[in-house]
Amino acid sequence: MTNAVPVAPTFGEAAPIEASPETLAFLARRRSASALTLTAPGPSNAELATLLRLATRVPDHGKLAPWRFVILRGAGKRRFVEGLEAIAATRPDGERLKAKLGKIKAPPLTIAVVSRATPGEIPEWEQRLSAGAVCMTLAIAAQAMGYGANWITDWYAYDEDAGRLLGLGEGERVAGFVHLGTSAETPLERVRPDVAALVSEWKG
Ligand SMILES: Cc1cc2nc3c(=O)[nH]c(=O)nc-3n(C[C@H](O)[C@H](O)[C@H](O)COP(=O)(O)O)c2cc1C
Repeated sequence: MTNAVPVAPTFGEAAPIEASPETLAFLARRRSASALTLTAPGPSNAELATLLRLATRVPDHGKLAPWRFVILRGAGKRRFVEGLEAIAATRPDGERLKAKLGKIKAPPLTIAVVSRATPGEIPEWEQRLSAGAVCMTLAIAAQAMGYGANWITDWYAYDEDAGRLLGLGEGERVAGFVHLGTSAETPLERVRPDVAALVSEWKG
């Protein structure tokens, strides 16, 4: 699969606001795939580079780039999963934790989006939100390339030992494991919220 994506504008170049009915149609029906159904082929190296380029075009107060990526694939991913299995084995509910690793084992490519926060003027909350925007943009871009995508966390996003295994530094947190691959099953629509029940108009 090849996916040609235009180059980014150069700094200061005009970036006109243009309607994109195709994007609207895509968003109206976009659906995550289950990680368990993701299989090879996953994005190529060139597509991965494009995905990361697109995913980092997100709002980022203070231009701190409060995120980084850890790519998990191939032999490295297998060793990471073995490490998670070893961690699970030390826990009282180890079998349950091990059973949950299917979602990281199946997809050919996983991008761990690591949220980091720089102390200073920009609230940490905003830096964390920017990492969420990166995860969502990654999922959208991968799906727009025709791949299945699933943004999840799971126990190993919160486990201290798993964080050490991933290489998290001080103050770093996993915003998500974004699993990518070819979706072996067509996802079915899930329950969606009643939007009207979530909206109010402030009238003072
Ligand atoms: C931060 C975050 C963490 C998530 N973690 C999990 C998880 O650990 N396990 C899971 O089954 N779904 C998890 N989900 C939900 C999945 O993304 C789920 O597939 C999603 O609700 C699909 O919705 P969509 O089709 O609208 O993209 C998580 C979602 C978010 C935003």
